[in-house]
Amino acid sequence: MSRFSLTGRTALVTGGARGCGLAMAEGLAEAGANIAIFDMIEPEIVFADLATRYNVKTSFYRVDVTSCESLDEGFADFERDFGGALDICVPCAGVNKNVKLLDMTPEDFDRLCDVNIKGAYCTMQHAAKMMVKNRTTKGSIIIVASIAASRAVRGQYSSAYCATKGAVRAMCAPSAVELAEYGIRVNTISPGYIKTEMTAPFPHLLESWKSEVMNNRIGMPDDIKGACIFLASDASSYMTGNDIAVDGGVLNW
Ligand SMILES: NC(=O)c1ccc[n+]([C@@H]2O[C@H](COP(=O)([O-])OP(=O)(O)OC[C@H]3O[C@@H](n4cnc5c(N)ncnc54)[C@H](O)[C@@H]3O)[C@@H](O)[C@H]2O)c1
Repeated sequence: MSRFSLTGRTALVTGGARGCGLAMAEGLAEAGANIAIFDMIEPEIVFADLATRYNVKTSFYRVDVTSCESLDEGFADFERDFGGALDICVPCAGVNKNVKLLDMTPEDFDRLCDVNIKGAYCTMQHAAKMMVKNRTTKGSIIIVASIAASRAVRGQYSSAYCATKGAVRAMCAPSAVELAEYGIRVNTISPGYIKTEMTAPFPHLLESWKSEVMNNRIGMPDDIKGACIFLASDASSYMTGNDIAVDGGVLNW
């Protein structure tokens, strides 16, 4: 199991204040990584315990991933506090908007693209530059995509959201090709239907989506942890430019 250990490594998770991002941050800490979180909201209380529970260093930075200035500042603060020792980056910050194609406003469309595409891309770019600079040979970037990259979300108006997650999937392989020479791997995780603040406003859908899942249950944020630890660690050292769907079998049923 030592190939799964992240002891001595440092991870940055955007959107890590709650939901899937927080669960992945917790999983990475449990595997031994120091954790930095970028988010626009204060992390849930559990984040404050990670440092003592897993004997790692943690820090939260208020960063808006849609703003170049905010990202610049966040990475500069991270570099100061963690000595630039970045090994793992999980661009997870994301938003959804349940609006019909015919009613979508340019402002709402821009917002989805800014957070889900530009935010993920610019976070990856910053992280890759820091990894090249610190010469880590263990670099791993894990972008959070979605099953929505390859199918419509049943019961929702998902044209714009699906477009953004398709873009996330599409940026993975070419980025992996370019970063391979620096020992940096790039993969995506595509969660299925997960119960978080993003999906909580739709209890009827959480119920009906179960029928699309092979094991007939909605996922919890903790269900994503294992794939994240695997992709962050040496256990996945031969895996890059690819995707892991953690979806209870939705995509294959
Ligand atoms: N919940 C699901 O069913 C599901 C399924 C597939 C993919 N996803 C993806 O998982 C990721 C996490 O979503 P979640 O379900 O945990 O939702 P969530 O709303 O609980 O978490 C999203 C986090 O992103 C943060 N965030 C939003 N905009 C930001 C910005 N501009 N800058 C910094 N942080 C920002 C939020 O504050 C929040 O902490 C998203 O990318 C989402 O698209 C979720």
